[in-house]
Amino acid sequence: MSKKPYYITTPIYYPSGNPHIGHCYTTVACDSIARLRRMQGYDVLFLTGTDEHGQKIEQKAAEKGVTPKEYVDEIVAVFQKLWKRMNVSYDRYIRTTDAYHIETVQKIFKDLYDKGYIYKGEYTGKYCTPCESFWTESQLDENGCCPECHREVTEAKEEAYFMKMSPFADRIEKLLTETDYLQPKNRALELVNNFIRPGLEDLCVSRTSFQWGIPVTFDDKHVVYVWIDALSNYISALGYANNTYSDFSSYWPADVHMVAKDIMRFHAIIWPAMLMALELPLPKHLAVHGWITFNGQKMSKSLGNVVDPFLLADRYGADAIRYHILREMALGADSSFSNEIMINRINSDLANGLGNLVSRTVAMAEKYFGGTLPEERQPGEFDDALIAAAVSLRGKLEKLLDNTQLNLMLAEIFQVVSRANKYIDETAPWILARDEANRPRLATVLYNLLETIRMISIPLSAFMPETMPKVWVQIGADESDVAYDTMDTFGKLSAAVTVQKGDMLFPRIDVDQEIEALNQMILDAQPKEESAEPAYTPEPLAKEIGMEIFAQTDLRVAKVVACEKIKKSKKLLKLQLDDGMGGRQVVSGIAPWYAPEDLIGKKIMLVANLKAATLCGVESNGMICAADTPDGNVRVIFPDDSLPVGAKIH
Ligand code: MSP
Repeated sequence: MSKKPYYITTPIYYPSGNPHIGHCYTTVACDSIARLRRMQGYDVLFLTGTDEHGQKIEQKAAEKGVTPKEYVDEIVAVFQKLWKRMNVSYDRYIRTTDAYHIETVQKIFKDLYDKGYIYKGEYTGKYCTPCESFWTESQLDENGCCPECHREVTEAKEEAYFMKMSPFADRIEKLLTETDYLQPKNRALELVNNFIRPGLEDLCVSRTSFQWGIPVTFDDKHVVYVWIDALSNYISALGYANNTYSDFSSYWPADVHMVAKDIMRFHAIIWPAMLMALELPLPKHLAVHGWITFNGQKMSKSLGNVVDPFLLADRYGADAIRYHILREMALGADSSFSNEIMINRINSDLANGLGNLVSRTVAMAEKYFGGTLPEERQPGEFDDALIAAAVSLRGKLEKLLDNTQLNLMLAEIFQVVSRANKYIDETAPWILARDEANRPRLATVLYNLLETIRMISIPLSAFMPETMPKVWVQIGADESDVAYDTMDTFGKLSAAVTVQKGDMLFPRIDVDQEIEALNQMILDAQPKEESAEPAYTPEPLAKEIGMEIFAQTDLRVAKVVACEKIKKSKKLLKLQLDDGMGGRQVVSGIAPWYAPEDLIGKKIMLVANLKAATLCGVESNGMICAADTPDGNVRVIFPDDSLPVGAKIH
């Protein structure tokens, strides 16, 4: 009988900077699912890749003085190296610069145009260059900035092609509310209320203001803009509208697209609309997870809070990292990353929990029986509870897998680990070992433990593919002992099984020492030239003044309690200050360098006795002190935090 096809995809990543731990989540999650499905007997096609076009890439390449293709080639190689390091078993890697993908996108665009779903119009709106997103006025944040990255947006107006969305609105609403397409489903309502009910806006699908994109065949000053290019990857990689592959009829519709919440809308609304327009079946599931955050913010290169997965994998092993991120993230919610949480979890779950269970069991089998168990058995108290926990695992895991709840799968598996560790305490093999007469009971206890380890190691091998083969060697399991279907069959290992002691699976980490080492590495990794004083020629000194003149300038420490952009101005921020004297409002021209949230809560230096002035119609009572950097940027002077508000600076 031929195997049932199973198609799973990650998003295709922007190679605009090196990958970070946030990128690892989806890829490692899909990898674990792909491995489990292969073990279950599916014919899996696991796709990942890179989304290589767009203005941002074009700009970055220009800054570096290389072509966009040269620029992406270098970063794509790093992504691929990372997936290898993390043991990601993808079957196909798509690059949107691959010729076959370009061919597919051009055909899809033309097809949608010929069908009347794409039309030429004019785009006017707000555009965020870093996010490559157009936003409507109502979608901007409270400061009129990009709702995703909170940076400034620019007014954009140009000829563009649009895709009609309204013909699909009803079907999409039904898809989201009446089917289990979206996982978790509670997110569907937010999409329906925010985007569908107010009336789906047509989608801008071409641009003329940059060149690094797929040309529109029938109007070559246009390049295809973001989503038709990006989303089509899921079918071009199967050979839809190209001859490079011929897997479309077997693998489409996809079983799971997994994405993070920021691109849920595109996969929940635009992708179904495109497929409906092309008269193609819709994917079965869209699994949406949250972000890995660092200090509460999404990890991203532009925020400078990225965690280097290569470094972590080298220090703790790829499996420990895979385990940690998959165990932490609940579908649909964010998960906060910290070195401390990670190290504690590695210690508690992997070193003390799983590692200890395996090493204690194997060590006892060696110590009490020279490594090979005698065949005589004597069942006893506690056996049934342990065996029941191990045997019932499969059913629980399969349900959770169908709902893409990988963190809960790991939680279930580790409950059995805890149950087994508890069984060691309950049965106290070291006491049994004192009396020869207990040998059959002691052998039974150790066999039950080895079997439990074997049974949990089967699903765990999808999550920790490097470590489980080492466990199999230690517990004396051969390939047939770890076939998926033996996961709920107790008694598979031979009765006279021979164990083999091995290295510790997960050495315990000294938390304090390790955190210190990581912090030091972060410091060491800072570019050296940053610490060296950059070349700078100070402005000529002003005319000498006496103390009595300086004393006329009243400088004070004040604290920013509120801050907002002045709508009519690109440069001005309005700050409310606590000056220890009843408070005041100051306007400052630092908006190009500071977002309001960069300043709120900070203490600043205030020129407190400056005559009031009106800037852009807003009253300003004083001035906050700042200085220019050598490259012409402005930085605010932040005084020592221990100084009280109102303190006079002298
Ligand atoms: N190129 C688009 C996707 C097109 S799919 C047809 C894109 N690329 S991306 O590189 O910016 O992001 C890819 C995926 O990685 C997204 O799902 C994004 O949310 C996810 N992540 C990026 N940073 C992340 C975290 N810090 N945490 C979890 N996922 C994160 O969007």
